[in-house]
Amino acid sequence: MKQIMEARHLKLAVLASGRGSNFDAICQAIGQKDLDAEIAVLISDKPNAPVLQKAAARGIETLHINPREFPGRDSYEAVLVNELKVRNVDLVVLAGYMRLVGSVFLAAYENRVLNIHPALLPSFQGLHAQQQALDYGVRISGCTVHIVDEGMDTGPIIMQKAVPVYDTDDEDTLAERILLEEHQAYWQSLQLIAEGRIWIEGRRVVIKNHPED
Ligand code: GRF
Repeated sequence: MKQIMEARHLKLAVLASGRGSNFDAICQAIGQKDLDAEIAVLISDKPNAPVLQKAAARGIETLHINPREFPGRDSYEAVLVNELKVRNVDLVVLAGYMRLVGSVFLAAYENRVLNIHPALLPSFQGLHAQQQALDYGVRISGCTVHIVDEGMDTGPIIMQKAVPVYDTDDEDTLAERILLEEHQAYWQSLQLIAEGRIWIEGRRVVIKNHPED
């Protein structure tokens, strides 16, 4: 069994492509001292992502790195990793980052990249997870915080929170209900890591009551 990292004040980088509500929720948890962390940098692959403004308004350093300016994913990720390393980032938080993470990134941050997905994995991986859940007709959906591996939404699961699905739901109402849970699940998962309580055994995550247990 392997510990993700020893208890520490976390130095985070957030990677995001869009709106940034999860980014905001993590910032709030830090501000309220629920989460023992700081955000060293917010990186977006999209020049007009609203999350860039949100980070700037909070006085957090922002970077836009355009993947299209690189010949391939490896060279893009090499630059990304360099930006993380020079800032001594110890954990990378994907928050609505709309790209698959590749081998260069994962080699540098093995078991140290987290993602949040708006469904109870392994159901409804990929895009439009809320619509997939509605189309399938499930009565319960939710969100999943997981460690990122090379698959799409396939890595070891840290936390899941469930919400009911109502007959009257559409994609937006279900997404909104799930989002409220996302905004709790992400910082709570990060805080478990900050407390040194997350261990991995195969694809199972074990949450210890105390790091030395
Ligand atoms: C969230 O629903 C998250 O689960 C998914 O992308 C969305 C990002 O929303 N990965 P936001 O940008 O954090 O508001």
